[in-house]
This record gives sequence, structure tokens and C-alpha cells, in this order.
Amino acid sequence: MKNILVTGGAGFIGSNFIKYALYNYNYNIVNFDKLTYAGNLENLIDVEFNDKYKFIKGDICNKKETESAVRENEIDTIINFAAESHVDRSILGAKEFINTNVMGTLTLLEVAKDNGIEKFLQVSTDEVYGSLPEDRKDLLFTEKNPVTTNSPYSASKASADLLCNAFYHTFKLPVLITRCSNNYGPYQFPEKLIPLMIAKAINDEKLPVYGDGKNVRDWLYVDDHCSAIFETLHKGKSGEVYNVGGNNEWYNIDIVKLILNKLGKSENLIQYVKDRPGHDRRYAIDSSKIMNELGWKPAYNFESGIEKTIRWYTKNSDWWKKVMSGEYLKYYEENYGNKVN
Ligand code: NAD
Ligand code: TYD
Repeated sequence: MKNILVTGGAGFIGSNFIKYALYNYNYNIVNFDKLTYAGNLENLIDVEFNDKYKFIKGDICNKKETESAVRENEIDTIINFAAESHVDRSILGAKEFINTNVMGTLTLLEVAKDNGIEKFLQVSTDEVYGSLPEDRKDLLFTEKNPVTTNSPYSASKASADLLCNAFYHTFKLPVLITRCSNNYGPYQFPEKLIPLMIAKAINDEKLPVYGDGKNVRDWLYVDDHCSAIFETLHKGKSGEVYNVGGNNEWYNIDIVKLILNKLGKSENLIQYVKDRPGHDRRYAIDSSKIMNELGWKPAYNFESGIEKTIRWYTKNSDWWKKVMSGEYLKYYEENYGNKVN
């Protein structure tokens, strides 16, 4: 493993991953990103002149562009982060999710197969397992759970996983899949729960909580997801799925209250709004396979991770203020305009 193509490297997890890789390892990294609304090269300013890093603007749905990036840079490893990643956007329109998440992954798999790629890691999500009952805390998602999807986003990610599995079995492509829980940390686009709530609280705006606020997510600091991806690349077995999670379940409303509390803001800013259609109630991951077989464990506990994250958004308001202007505002109006009770 020498030359890695990271697709979607200008997004939240991809940009954190590239920095993690350059600071901790000696690989050459090519960032291949279409720069959709979620792609932001400012996330990578710290490494843009690093000799081991290169950016190529390209679309994973475009075979020609993808193949030249692979050939010209003698790529031996592909890590696919590129995706449409926001559930609410997938409810407003699923087509782009099918294009990038399904057709784009298929294109990448074909390019990988035709160009002797030695490792293909698909960055997937716990959302492919559907939803767990709230009153059965003993139940967690394991790799053996059936894939049962409820949102267009999770359906598109699950379809991509199935294609990866098919390429492993049919063509012996060395594919690995990671399925991680909800990430948080710096540079997350402020449409997702944690950065959106921090930004709104800092601005003294209402914090929109869907439904009764009792949906549960399992939160993991982004660097811990990056380390799990490296453990999987280095020690994982082709054809296998590895769940990654923080063993850290929170009700949404408790996260929102925690953020308000840490920022010294009033809980009166909370505004319950109409629920997300098809809203999955609870996600919780069993990470024992990656921990026992590959020796991965998270380095951050939630207390330290959330402190670090809130501090980052407080210090870097320029970053998210810039991001929240323009196209984002249009989306915000469309998604929340008719939700307020
Ligand atoms: P993100 O939306 O912040 O970033 C996605 C990136 O992909 C952007 O840079 C965008 O420009 C790029 N992209 C989109 N379409 C593309 C295309 N057709 N060709 C090339 N690049 C394209 O997403 P994220 O939160 O960083 O998530 C990254 C990956 O991790 C996704 O595959 C997502 O499903 C998965 N994941 C995310 C989480 C989470 O909590 N955010 C958890 C588990 C898994
Ligand atoms: P999100 O960050 O969109 O991640 P996902 O839906 O992929 O888990 O949302 C996390 C949780 O927060 C989810 O249960 C929906 C909820 N949520 C709100 O209550 N209000 C909001 O404005 C957003 C964006 C999310």
C-alpha cells in the first residue's frame, strides 16, 4: 500500500481522514472530489502544499476521470468516502443519492477491478441496519444484522455495500466495508445535528429538534473513525464488514441541552419541530468485532470529544458562517420552512 485515492476527501470525514493520514503515516494521498455543496477545500488548507498530497476535481460517476486519476497516480488503494450524506436532503430528493452513492460506487468498483487495485475500502454507515427498538437496550447492531433500510440515504448506502460484496465474490476484488455510527468533530457541515445546534446556539437562534427529541444516536469522534479505517486497511480481511461505534448512545434532546449548557445558553432556545418522515428511532453499534479481531479502540471519550468540538466551532465561526451563506440558506428554508409547529 503506497498511493491512496481518497474520494470525497473535501468533505467532513474525508478531510479529517486526509490530515490524520498525512500526520500519522507516509502514504501518498490523492483527494478526488467533485466539490458539491459539502466539499470545501478550506478544510485542507493545513496540508494543501504537503508533498504527499494532491487534489483532483472529479466525479466518481465519471469513469474516464476516475480511471485517469487512478492510472496517472499509480493508485493501489481506494477509500470511498464520496457520497451524498444527509438524510433530510435524501427525503427532499433521492436522485442525486442514487447517482453518487450507487452509480458512483459501481463506477469506482469497475475502475478498481480493471486497474488491479489491491485494496478497496467502502466507508459505509450503521444506518444500513435500519432502526432498533428504544426499549431493548440489550439489542445492538452487529455485522450479522440484516440490511433493512428506511431512508433514501440508507437505501443508497446499502445498495453500494451490496455491490461491494458482489465485486468481492464475483471478481475477487479485495473489498473491505466499515459501518460507522454518527461522527462529530471539526469541519462537519452545519446541516448535521451537532454543528447545526452549536452554530444556532452561538447565534442565539432557535434550535430545531425533530419530533419528541427522543431518537437515539451513537456518537463517535471523527479521529476515532479515521483510526478504525486504518486498522481495517492494515489488518482487515477482504470481503468482511467491520462495525465501528462509540458505545455512546444519546437522546438527541440531551445532546442539544448539553450544547446549550456548555455554551451558557438558555434551554428556551429549543424549538420542537415536525418530525423527519420515516425517522429511525435508535442506532447503537456493537464494535466488538473490530476491537477483538483488529485491536481498534476509540481514543476519545464523549466528554473530551464534545468539549474539543464545541471549542473548535466557537473559535472557527468564520468557517461555518461562510459555509452557511448562499446555497445552504436555500436548503434551510426548503427543509425547515414548513416544519415549525
Ligand atoms: P460530507 O457530505 O461531509 O462529504 C461528502 C464529500 O463527497 C464532499 O466533499 C463532496 O464534495 C464529495 N462528493 C459528493 N459527490 C461526489 C461525487 N459524485 N464524486 C466525487 N466526490 C463527491 O460527508 P461525510 O459526513 O464526510 O461522510 C463521508 C462518508 O462517510 C459518506 O460515505 C457517509 O455515508 C459516510 N458516513 C458518514 C457518517 C457521519 O456521521 N457523517 C457516519 C458513517 C458513515
Ligand atoms: P443527523 O445529524 O442528520 O444524522 P442522521 O440522521 O444521519 O443520524 O441527525 C442526527 C439526529 O438529530 C437525527 O435523529 C435527527 C436529529 N435532528 C434534529 O432533531 N434536528 C435537526 O435539525 C437535525 C439536522 C437533526
